Amino acid sequence: MSDPLLQAQSVSHTYRRRNRVTHALAGVSFGVRGDEFVCVVGNSGSGKSTLLRILGGLLAPSAGQVQFRGGTVQTPQTEIGFVFQNTNLMPWRTALENVLLPLELQKTPDAQDRARACAALALMGLEEFADAYPAQLSGGMAQRLTLTRALLQEPALLLMDEPFGALDALTRERLNQELLRIHRDRAQTVLMITHSIQEAIFLADRVLVLSGQPGELRGDIPVELPRPRALEMLTWPQAGALNREIRACLATGAQEGKQH
Ligand SMILES: Nc1ncnc2c1ncn2[C@@H]1O[C@H](COP(=O)(O)OP(=O)(O)OP(=O)(O)O)[C@@H](O)[C@H]1O
Ligand SMILES: [Mg+2]
Repeated sequence: MSDPLLQAQSVSHTYRRRNRVTHALAGVSFGVRGDEFVCVVGNSGSGKSTLLRILGGLLAPSAGQVQFRGGTVQTPQTEIGFVFQNTNLMPWRTALENVLLPLELQKTPDAQDRARACAALALMGLEEFADAYPAQLSGGMAQRLTLTRALLQEPALLLMDEPFGALDALTRERLNQELLRIHRDRAQTVLMITHSIQEAIFLADRVLVLSGQPGELRGDIPVELPRPRALEMLTWPQAGALNREIRACLATGAQEGKQH
């Protein structure tokens, strides 16, 4: 088997603020192979966002390390794209200008870059909104814009923290389908946090389960549903069994969680 694209090795993290100490993550190890789609589920406070920030080099772990393409991650990497839960759009920039922002940090965008950005907006059904400001977009459109911005960088790895959590069920389903299409067409490697076990089963090749406080990895569960995925597969007995297995893993850390 090929080496993983991303490897977390015994990653632990403790936040220290004045005299308050929070143990957020304890000894988390796993690998993500190129073109895998991995979802992370876990109770609130189990360290999911902390883990994502560490994987992307935005936060240094208290112990352990992260390897990306065999090198230790210590700072943000241009080959790792982010989509956060809040859309992070600049309100004074148009959709097109927001999409071009990460590129501007590297160079002055030329006509070719603008054309590529417009094509990416069109792919996400946002071509008519290139000149619109974030306040003029719906929640779903703003999330599609954030996704467009992350994908324009053509990141080897896309890290997402509950990207569609605030959206209505239908918009969320549509964006999930879009994400699966991108995953398939580009062989895009994705690691995505979600609160929804059903969403994780629908999207992922593997579901990682974080549980407890500090969060520990309590499950690494392969999803062997065929691709392309269809929503009706969630009604299959196999999906029901996965759902129960994930819930059982979540429950193993719940006792510790209750003490907080
Ligand atoms: N910047 C910070 N400073 C201090 N403590 C923090 C900080 N960020 C997170 N924590 C604490 O670390 C723990 C894990 O937080 P984290 O945000 O990683 O959890 P999460 O699994 O993403 O939760 P949620 O599902 O609610 O988003 C929590 O107890 C939280 O209070
Ligand atoms: Mg979080």
